[in-house]
Amino acid sequence: MGLAKKAEEAAVEEAEEAEGAKEAKEAKEAKEREERMRRLEERVKACKKCELWSLRRNAVVGEGSLLADVMFVGEAPGYYEDLKGRPFVGKAGKVLDELLASVHLERKDVYICNVLKCRPPKNRDPKPEEIESCTPFLDEQIEIIQPKVIATLGNYSLQYIFSKFNMKAEKISKIHGRIFTVETLNGTLKIIPLYHPAVAIYNSAMREVLFEDFKVLPKLLSEKHNKRERG
Ligand code: URA
Ligand code: SF4
Repeated sequence: MGLAKKAEEAAVEEAEEAEGAKEAKEAKEAKEREERMRRLEERVKACKKCELWSLRRNAVVGEGSLLADVMFVGEAPGYYEDLKGRPFVGKAGKVLDELLASVHLERKDVYICNVLKCRPPKNRDPKPEEIESCTPFLDEQIEIIQPKVIATLGNYSLQYIFSKFNMKAEKISKIHGRIFTVETLNGTLKIIPLYHPAVAIYNSAMREVLFEDFKVLPKLLSEKHNKRERG
């Protein structure tokens, strides 16, 4: 075998080893996150911190990849979410699925959850005391997943996430689709305020706005990707 050939083989082997080590590290991280999320889910399902516990059929913790770069935060479970114990599975969920598909993302690529984990009766607005009781769970989810991007869906999510990161939220009509950058202990975080997908169900103008705003996501993700490849 020629020297060049040998060197090439060695390089390939080294690259494969590095790739293997990276995969092993990711698998370990995924396992740790799964375990933490499993324990969190148990606590949410047993939670009685606000009055909503007595009305729930199922608490809706969230779902998706625990290694996701993007986390979507909605408001609260509705009728179907409460029934099934999964986020965004009703009409608004159908819109969210279409929005994800429009930027070539699938549910399994992202993480989806809500400010409140139990359904408010008749889908009424969350009360301040409910938000205060429930958001430590959301905080923990952010801690576990350490997303690079948080997309807020609707006003309650926007208000909570902005205040959590010490930012002043302006009106959604002014800031939707814009990128806000904050430095956190876990690195740089981008926050994208988006309208709630429910607004698009009967309003085609809002639907267009949402689809347009969603286009910011692949841009952000590919920026990160490119940086990784370069560096
Ligand atoms: N609306 C939300 O805000 N969250 C859901 O999970 C479903 C509808
Ligand atoms: Fe607990 Fe949140 Fe459900 Fe209230 S909404 S009971 S705080 S899990």
